[in-house]
Amino acid sequence: MADLKDRVLAALSTVMDPDLHKDLVTLGMIRELKVEDSGKVSFQVCLTTPACPMKEKIRGDCEAALRKVDGISRFVIEMTAEVRQARPDQDKAAIEGVRNIIAVGSGKGGVGKSTTAVNIALALSREGAKVALLDADIYGPNVPTMLGVTGKPVVRDNRIIPMRGHGIDVMSMGFMVDENQPLIWRGPMLHGVLRQLLHDVLWGEQDYLIVDLPPGTGDVQLSLSQAVPLSGAVIVTTPQNVALQDARKGIAMFQKVNVPILGIVENMSYYLCPQCGHRDEIFSTGGGENASAKFSVPFLGRIPLNTQIREGMDAGMPVAVNEDTEFPAIYRGVAQRVAQQLAIISERARNPYAITPTG
Ligand SMILES: Nc1ncnc2c1ncn2[C@@H]1O[C@H](COP(=O)(O)OP(=O)(O)OP(=O)(O)O)[C@@H](O)[C@H]1O
Ligand SMILES: [Mg+2]
Repeated sequence: MADLKDRVLAALSTVMDPDLHKDLVTLGMIRELKVEDSGKVSFQVCLTTPACPMKEKIRGDCEAALRKVDGISRFVIEMTAEVRQARPDQDKAAIEGVRNIIAVGSGKGGVGKSTTAVNIALALSREGAKVALLDADIYGPNVPTMLGVTGKPVVRDNRIIPMRGHGIDVMSMGFMVDENQPLIWRGPMLHGVLRQLLHDVLWGEQDYLIVDLPPGTGDVQLSLSQAVPLSGAVIVTTPQNVALQDARKGIAMFQKVNVPILGIVENMSYYLCPQCGHRDEIFSTGGGENASAKFSVPFLGRIPLNTQIREGMDAGMPVAVNEDTEFPAIYRGVAQRVAQQLAIISERARNPYAITPTG
């Protein structure tokens, strides 16, 4: 069956990864290829992320290529994934086991960073990725409430064990301090606290560590980029025109410290009336897309302004895991585009001349 195996591989080497612009064989994505005497062919396609938006297209292209090969009685394709470290070029002290660290930030407060960070983290996890979430809002941690997680983390061998909520690992200052006590940190202390949250926590194996940043473009943002290599940043904005200036601030903050911008999420984008289904562009429209075009960064999607989103966050039941709503699909789209951008950055870091940037 050596001959058939060769012809199968030849057929699969015509199937391209649409994002990485190379064929699956060259990319090393075809694994466990078995060809039986009966003509049964089976193999795995190992993608660079389980949240690959092109998964079904790639599977379909493989099937189409195999149908042209004579002598195959049937084929079984298993889609798997192995997330790679996005930036193998970096020398900063990384976190062992954590392959990608993604910051979620904005130029201004209250635009829905925490809401977006939590729901993207959950959406990635539901796609099959190993995901952790770090609440870097040291002064006003919201993540414990949003995920509905209470209690104090356990310390084992001098390492803090993260808490678990809705299937992801999570760490927040909110678990460490009395929530009624105001927190006052001076600059150097703040840097130390953040380093501890990154390095003294036993994060374990994670494909993605999402970091929810506090409002502003100040100390924490700088400390974070100094403390660990960031794979990329997601910028959250609202659609108003002023948001364009805010997005610019957010983007500039990461570009200054050489963190790739994965793209812009437009939050509170439109109001979908739950009673009549009418769509109202309360804060005008297109701000996120305009900003993405203007700054040449990808547009990751828009999230409606919806009472269910706020209620879900307040109740510790984020909408990304609420199957009774349309939100799991909306956040899945955003999460897939985040993972896609990371996969592209990762391939570009390995083969700098092979891929032209997409924006
Ligand atoms: N798409 C949305 N629809 C409805 N409510 C939303 C939406 N996004 C966020 N909210 C609500 O808006 C408020 C602010 O959101 P959130 O805390 O996520 O913003 P933030 O940018 O993290 O704020 P901060 O800058 O204070 O950290 C919250 O009450 C949240 O539930
Ligand atoms: Mg927040």
